[in-house]
Amino acid sequence: TEVKPYANEPFTNFALEENKKAMQAAIAKVKSELGRHYPLTIGGEKIETEAKITSINPGNVDEVIGYVSKADQKLAEQAMQAALTTFETWKKVPARERAEYLFKAAHLMRERKHEFSATMILESGKNYVEADVDTAEAIDFLEFYGREMIRLSNTNETQPLTKIPGEDNKITYIPLGVGVVIPPWNFPLAICVGMTTAAVVSGNTVLLKPASTTPVIAHKFFALMEEVGLPAGVINFIPGSGAEVGDYLTTHPKTRFISFTGSKEVGLRINKLAADTVPGQIWIKRVIAEMGGKDGIVVDETADLEAAAAAIVASAFGFQGQKCSAGSRAVIVESVYDQVAERVVELTKKLKWGLQEHDFAAGPVIDKTSYDRILDYIEVGKQEGTLLVGGDKAEGNGYYIQPTVFGDVGGKARIMQEEIFGPVLALAKAKDWQEAIAMYNDTEFGLTGSYFSTDEDRIAEALETVHCGNLYINRKCTGALVGVHPFGGFNMSGTDSKAGGYDYLLLFTQAKLTSRKI
Ligand code: NAD
Ligand code: ALA
Repeated sequence: TEVKPYANEPFTNFALEENKKAMQAAIAKVKSELGRHYPLTIGGEKIETEAKITSINPGNVDEVIGYVSKADQKLAEQAMQAALTTFETWKKVPARERAEYLFKAAHLMRERKHEFSATMILESGKNYVEADVDTAEAIDFLEFYGREMIRLSNTNETQPLTKIPGEDNKITYIPLGVGVVIPPWNFPLAICVGMTTAAVVSGNTVLLKPASTTPVIAHKFFALMEEVGLPAGVINFIPGSGAEVGDYLTTHPKTRFISFTGSKEVGLRINKLAADTVPGQIWIKRVIAEMGGKDGIVVDETADLEAAAAAIVASAFGFQGQKCSAGSRAVIVESVYDQVAERVVELTKKLKWGLQEHDFAAGPVIDKTSYDRILDYIEVGKQEGTLLVGGDKAEGNGYYIQPTVFGDVGGKARIMQEEIFGPVLALAKAKDWQEAIAMYNDTEFGLTGSYFSTDEDRIAEALETVHCGNLYINRKCTGALVGVHPFGGFNMSGTDSKAGGYDYLLLFTQAKLTSRKI
């Protein structure tokens, strides 16, 4: 059958009562399943361990989402052996057949969309829209990478080689081997699905170590891949401690690649450990590392200031600022600074927080470690700028923090330079648009950015000089769409892998040239 052209999964409109009701029903269903035990799966074998990861609702810390078995080094080794064995058969499965597993999974996920979203609402503290967008992105990745693998396997058409007489030449993208996939918790479905299935559809086998705060939604995805009949051992599901299992597999001689998304600190550690060759290793390990951001919005005096203020607030506080793309700083030209700052404060004050099963604009942050770190940064901010709104923890039986804005922050301040990964926004003043862009660029990161202006010459210059992987003009800096906005950052934001783009699968393959005399 013919594969239809790729199109993004539409978002759900929760202003419609029927959609809201459907999500509430899905939440009730997921709630009736809370507290279950989830095994590891290695080569198709389910393994219950004594040690468990207890996943809780960050918005109601007494609510257990599930107990997930936990791999140690011995089980990680077992998983490696299963993945090595399975690779020998999986790599021979035709690309089109591999893609079909992704298409089937997309179909089922679409049918049960709200159930996946409801799990994230409870396990990660997303509101309805944020969870729905996450699930839609996961479906997009399945549909997109399936098609991408088909395209890549068809090089005679897509990348015809220069012809010479007497030879038949062909280039083929073949898989690498066993990969370790380490996703973060903040897009606990989309990024987990995207990273895993890109590797798998390319013909690799995978050791999936999900983030420890969101293992239940990761399991739900894993179970879906089992349901569509993906052969045992292609994905091995091994939750566990990043330090223990992660380091063991990163330094393993049979690990061919590591696909990581998470913090700069862990990404750099993996990159360093992976660079060392160990006895028995016959390749240079490939590291794909997508890391943090200190993203921001630049506003000049010609901009639509109302639109800019709304974008600043949406970018800073969507999912409590816990996006790699979050706009945690804004640099505003002096002459309009007060007006924009005032509007940002007004809009921030409107954000109500609470338990996300009731769908608030703001919810909890992910765990105690994050909560403590963010509150520490708020204290730093009180030294570095003027507190305009928020500035404290918030009530609730979970990790709630008030959406917080600091004004008049200097460009070199810690809250302008370091990734906070929480609901904290810094506003800075620049004398003109050029200084504002220079201040935006003055960071070690380079993931997303926005420039607000109506001046065409300035916009043309900003397109060239604002240095980040995903640059947006006159819109918010979050919300990249698969296929539309390939995603990845510069500098300490990572290897710029451009997830959801045409270059991504190349990272999980190697090109083999065959030349035959005729
Ligand atoms: P994290 O670095 O703490 O953890 C990410 C993953 O790495 C988790 O699965 C964790 O268990 C694992 N890990 C921890 N130590 C490890 C080790 N020594 N070896 C191997 N794995 C190890 O990050 P996080 O808190 O889950 O996610 C938030 C961070 O992710 C932020 O910095 C955010 O900007 C970044 N992020 C980046 C992107 C992007 O596309 N650039 C997307 C989402 C999140
Ligand atoms: N893709 C996500 C965004 O752009 C990270 O917000």
